[in-house]
Amino acid sequence: MDKKFKRTLVTTALPYANGPVHIGHLAGVYIPADIYTRYLRLKGEDVIMIGGSDEHGVPITIKARNEGVTPQDIVDRYHTIIRDSMEELGISFDIYSRTTSDIHSETASEFFRHLYDKGEFVEKTSMQLYDEKAGQFLADRYVTGECPHCHYDHAYGDQCEKCGTSLNATDLINPRSAITGNTPVLRETRHWYLPLDKWEPALSKWILDGHREWKTNVYGQCKSWIDLGLQPRAVSRDLDWGVPVPVEGADGKVLYVWFDAPIGYISNTKELLPDSWEKYWKDPETRIINFIGKDNIVFHCIVFPAMLMAYGDGYQLPDNVPANEFLNLEGDKISTSRNWAVWLHEYLRDFEGKQDVLRYVLTANAPETKDNDFTWSDFQQRNNSELVAILGNFVNRVLVLTHKYYDGAVPVPGTLTDTETGAFRELAEIKERLSECLDTFHLREALKEAMNIARLGNRYLQETEPWKLAKADDMERVATVMYTAIQLCANIAIAFEPFLPFMSRKLADTLRLGKMTWDDLGRDNIVAPGTVTGTPGLLFEKIEDDAIQAQLDRLARIKEENKLKQWQPQPVQEPTDFDTFMKLDIRVGTVKECARVPKADKLLRFTIDDGMGDRTIVSGIAKYYDPADLVGKQVCFIANFPPRRLKGVESQGMILSAENADGSLVVVGPTGPVTPGSQVK
Ligand code: MF3
Ligand code: ZN
Repeated sequence: MDKKFKRTLVTTALPYANGPVHIGHLAGVYIPADIYTRYLRLKGEDVIMIGGSDEHGVPITIKARNEGVTPQDIVDRYHTIIRDSMEELGISFDIYSRTTSDIHSETASEFFRHLYDKGEFVEKTSMQLYDEKAGQFLADRYVTGECPHCHYDHAYGDQCEKCGTSLNATDLINPRSAITGNTPVLRETRHWYLPLDKWEPALSKWILDGHREWKTNVYGQCKSWIDLGLQPRAVSRDLDWGVPVPVEGADGKVLYVWFDAPIGYISNTKELLPDSWEKYWKDPETRIINFIGKDNIVFHCIVFPAMLMAYGDGYQLPDNVPANEFLNLEGDKISTSRNWAVWLHEYLRDFEGKQDVLRYVLTANAPETKDNDFTWSDFQQRNNSELVAILGNFVNRVLVLTHKYYDGAVPVPGTLTDTETGAFRELAEIKERLSECLDTFHLREALKEAMNIARLGNRYLQETEPWKLAKADDMERVATVMYTAIQLCANIAIAFEPFLPFMSRKLADTLRLGKMTWDDLGRDNIVAPGTVTGTPGLLFEKIEDDAIQAQLDRLARIKEENKLKQWQPQPVQEPTDFDTFMKLDIRVGTVKECARVPKADKLLRFTIDDGMGDRTIVSGIAKYYDPADLVGKQVCFIANFPPRRLKGVESQGMILSAENADGSLVVVGPTGPVTPGSQVK
C-alpha cells in the first residue's frame, strides 16, 4: 500500500431495505468491494469493510403504505433477506448493520446537533409541495415530474435517474404526488439547509485539483456539478419515518435520508469497534474508499464530504470513490418496482452452491466504465467454457494425474528446465499485472489476469504432456512436471481468493494450504513434496440448457405481467356525430357453422344467419376459440363493408371483437336473444 497510509476503511453503499438485492447492486458495489477488501486482507493490511441497510427514506414508506404494514415491518423483512443472502454469497463484511439501530440514531442526531450548534445550517421557511388529499408534505420520491435539465418525464423530487442531477422537489415541472396522483399545492414549512455553496471552494480544491486520478465518470460528474454552482440543500423533511430532528420545535420533522444514511458508515464502524472506531475516520493515515453506484456519486463526493468538513474534528474525506455504471438485464434497465432483476436470494435458491459462478460472471461483466448487460446465455457460456473448460479442467487434470501416479502425494521434482522457469517467469508477470489492476480498481482486467494462470497451466500441460512421459517411463520428468503443475494450482487458489472464495478454499483444502497470503503468490514452492493432496472433486459443473431456459421463462412471464400492469385504455377519439355512426350498418346474426380455414392458423370461417339468408364471414380469432363453442352464439358484425378475399374465402363483413390487455380477442354479441338481422344502434 501507499506508504502514506496505515489502514483502509472500505464502505459499501447501504442498500435501501425496500427490496432484496439484485445483480445490479452486486456488480456495482458489493462484489467489487469484497474483491478489493479480500485482496488487502491477503496482503495482511489493516482493513475493515462496512455495510448495512439503509432503512429510512420515502420508498420504504410508500411500500409500507401499499402493503398496509408499517415501515418497520418492511425494513425488518428486507434487512434479513439482504444480510443473509450477501453472507451466503461470501460478501465478507466486517459488519452489516442497519440505520434503524439505536447507535445509528444517536450518532446521526449528534452529528446534526453538532452542526446545528456550530451554526453550520441555514434555517429557511419556504413553500414546499403539499398533497391536500393525503394531508402531507411531499418530498423526494413522493413526487414525480419532469426534470428541468434533461426533461425526462419521470424524475423524482430528489433526483433525476436519467441525467443523475440531484433536484429539489420544487424544481420539477408538472409535479404529481406519488401517493394520490394529485397535483400538489405549495405550503409553507421550515427546514435546515446545508449551504453547499460555502463548501464549494474546498470541494473544488479537494476533488478537481487533488483527485485527478479518480475514475473519469466520477471526476466528470463532480466537475459538472461544481461548474453548475452548488446550492444549499435541505437536510430535514416533513415525514414521520426517520431520525427525528434533534432540536426544539421540530415536531414532525426527520433528518433527510441522504443526511442520515452516510452517517451510517460511521455508526456501523462504531458498532463494530466501540473503542477504536475513531482511528478509521479521523486519522490522516487511514485511507477511506467508498464503493457505490453512479447514482450515488453526488452524495458521496459532494454532500457527505461537505458534512464531514462542516463537522471538522479530524474527519477524513474519502481517498477514492470507485463508482460503477449500471448493469442491465437482458437489454432492459434493472428495476425493483417492475421486478426486472435477478434477485440474489432467488439465484442462491435456484443455483445452489454456485456462488462463485455469479461472482465470476458479474466481475467479468462489471459495468466499470460503461453500462453493461447481463444475459443468461452469457452466464451459461462463461461457466461452461471458462470456469469449467479452462479453470476447472486444469486443476482437475493435475489432481487426477497426481492421484494416478503418486496416490495423491506431491512428488519430489527433478531439475527444472527452461519450460518450468519460463512458466514461473510468466506467473511473476501475471502477479505484477494482477496486483496493479487490483490496486487501481480495474477488477475485470484483474480477473482476466487471474484466469491467465489457469491458461498458463493448461498450456504447460499441453507442452510437457506428462501422460506421454509416463508411458515412456520418464518418471523423473513426470515428477518435475506434476510438482510444477501442483504449484500452479496453489497459485490459482491464492490469486482467485478475492474473486471466487469458495472455489479457492476448496482447492486450498485439497492442497492442504492453511492461511493464504498474497506474498506467496508467484512462488514455485508453495506445496511441499510429500504433501498428500485430497481427493479431487470437480470445482465447477456444466450448467445445462434447461436451467437457463427456466430463468428466461421467468423473465418472459415478468415482461408479460408488466405489460398487463402498464395497460391503459386508448385515448378517446375525435368527436364524431350520429350520422357518421349511422353510416356503419352493424347487425346481430346467429352463428350456424364455424370452422378453421385450412392453411391459415389465425382464421375462422363463419356461416351466419343474418335474417336474410346465410352470410360468410372470415375472422382472425382462431387462436382464441374452439370453433364448436361459437356455433349457436349471436355476434355483432358490420354488414356494409365491401366483400374481400382472405385465404381464398370471400368474407362478407367483419365480426366485432374487443381486445384484452394481453392481446387476446373476445367476440362481441348481444346480452339477450335478438332477432337475426336486427341493427345495432
Ligand atoms: N440507499 C442508497 C441507494 O441505494 C445508498 C445509500 S449510501 C449511503 O441508492 F451512503 F447513504 F449510505
Ligand atoms: Zn434529468
